[in-house]
Amino acid sequence: MIDLRSDTITRPTSKMLDAMMQAHVGDDVFGEDETVNAFQEKVARMFGMEAGLFVPSGTMSNQLGVKVLTEPGDEILIDEKGHIFNYETGAASSLSGVQVRTLNGKDGKLDTDALQHTKRGHFDWEPRTKVICLENSTNKGGGVCYSEDELKSIKAFADQEELFVHLDGARIWNAITATDIEAEFFGEIADTISVCFSKGLGAPVGSMLLSSKERIAKARRFRKMWGGGMRQVGLLAAAADYALENNWEKLAEDHRRAREVAQVIFDSKELAVDMNKLQTNILIFDAVNESAEQVLEQLAENGIRMIQFGPNTIRATFHFEISDEDVEVVKEVLAEIGK
Ligand SMILES: Cc1ncc(COP(=O)(O)O)c(C=O)c1O
Repeated sequence: MIDLRSDTITRPTSKMLDAMMQAHVGDDVFGEDETVNAFQEKVARMFGMEAGLFVPSGTMSNQLGVKVLTEPGDEILIDEKGHIFNYETGAASSLSGVQVRTLNGKDGKLDTDALQHTKRGHFDWEPRTKVICLENSTNKGGGVCYSEDELKSIKAFADQEELFVHLDGARIWNAITATDIEAEFFGEIADTISVCFSKGLGAPVGSMLLSSKERIAKARRFRKMWGGGMRQVGLLAAAADYALENNWEKLAEDHRRAREVAQVIFDSKELAVDMNKLQTNILIFDAVNESAEQVLEQLAENGIRMIQFGPNTIRATFHFEISDEDVEVVKEVLAEIGK
């Protein structure tokens, strides 16, 4: 089976399991797990942030970011393709009592045009707009990344309007690989950053919220309230640290493989892809005359799994369990389907 449904399906390698076995652990609810403490400090430093908080999922770190930046009744701004809006079970309204206002950006990215005249809160009857939520790379947007200039202008806008910036960096590692922007730069742009180790990096579990010491202390209390206080969590932090040290450099290969497959789609008659959007490991393409279900069925008959992203739209996500041999098979099958 060649499983391209998501980059979250990778399993821990034996070397990663070895790293977990070596971890020095303690009770992290008491703040006594030295492995997670060191890992939080290390990742925070990497992004130029004061502190980090290891959490079970990207959803929890996104929601903690929203929680520490808002009060109930506030409003957060996000592109209509954003994960926080589409795939987090309405958590922002439930857990933070905020209103999520979607904007029409491009490929999951916001820009200052989309953000113009969005701030509200001057009158008693308006919600208070507090946060601009960005996603980099974009998931539903097809793995597209922000450029440094795009982020600088959003940050200038946020400062001028006195808005916070939350960055959903579930795949920030892919974005850094694709754009060569330094990790520290994102710490200058955002007030809170969520990063995931369980996507392309391949850790079994784990994300981290990065921010100021004060906000992370606040997030720590809400993490406990939401049932995310973990005990000997250094086992998982060790896996995440191993993933960061050893698997980040493999992402460029995932990006190359995604491009190779995209080229076959681009050259076909019955399948279509916008090559300009292909920047990282996520490949979104369309079936021209068939439904996505029909194409997925033909792929499944050939041992290939992808996921439906719309009536005619399919997503394939590349990760380190996909080899060059797998890519050759996928290319052959897609060339046949698309001819
Ligand atoms: C952009 C983005 N943000 C957040 C998440 C949530 O991560 P998790 O599944 O760990 O909750 C995902 C998951 O795929 C994602 O793609």
